[in-house]
Amino acid sequence: MIHIRAAEPSDAAGIARVHCVTWKEAYRGILDDAYLETLSQKRLTTRWRTALDHRSEDLDEQVFVAVQGKTVIGFLTVGASREAFAPWDSEIGMIYVLKEHRGAGIGRVLMKAAADHSIRRGMFSCGLWVLRDNGGGRDFYEALRGEPTGRKTDSVGGKLVQLVAYWWNDVAALADRSTTPILPGRG
Ligand SMILES: CC(C)(COP(=O)(O)OP(=O)(O)OC[C@H]1O[C@@H](n2cnc3c(N)ncnc32)[C@H](O)[C@@H]1OP(=O)(O)O)[C@@H](O)C(=O)NCCC(=O)NCCS
Repeated sequence: MIHIRAAEPSDAAGIARVHCVTWKEAYRGILDDAYLETLSQKRLTTRWRTALDHRSEDLDEQVFVAVQGKTVIGFLTVGASREAFAPWDSEIGMIYVLKEHRGAGIGRVLMKAAADHSIRRGMFSCGLWVLRDNGGGRDFYEALRGEPTGRKTDSVGGKLVQLVAYWWNDVAALADRSTTPILPGRG
């Protein structure tokens, strides 16, 4: 049985595992290989533990995990917009699901958790940045009817990359669109 809940500090190692494994797989050929090789589950666990320990200082910030039993198989971060000029109120920072669990509706349900959280915190539009060359990620946001709304260049792991923005002008529509049962993974 898979369910979605707010992350706890004890989830740090599980989130770090998903973070490390999915970046190395999904961003191969998009980000710098040498940079991806430096990602370490141990260091990411420390980073996530610190982040989760301090999360209650900013109630807009939230991390949701998808868990199967006690195992984290996906996660999402959401918070207030990180850029003053962005048109959206809340921003999805990261969303990752382990490869073997993709295509089962977990991403959708994580997005719903982010949309519901945004509404609870008085943030009524939502957006995000995705790597332009991450076709799978972009297809996912388009399947949820995110609207493309901007482009920028940024540096990730020492490499300049192109990013594109998607947003939902009315986050309530994203919450509705994301209601779906979780099915067995297509892997
Ligand atoms: C993007 C990601 C989070 C989606 O999670 P998921 O659990 O597989 O998504 P869902 O099963 O909920 O899919 C929801 C919809 O998006 C579509 N979709 C998801 N991933 C897709 C892909 N790679 N290509 C095309 N469509 C995709 C699904 O077909 C589904 O649409 P449908 O219900 O109309 O059939 C997951 O594939 C992932 O972690 N990818 C690698 C990392 C990544 O790119 N993260 C986003 C970075 S910004």
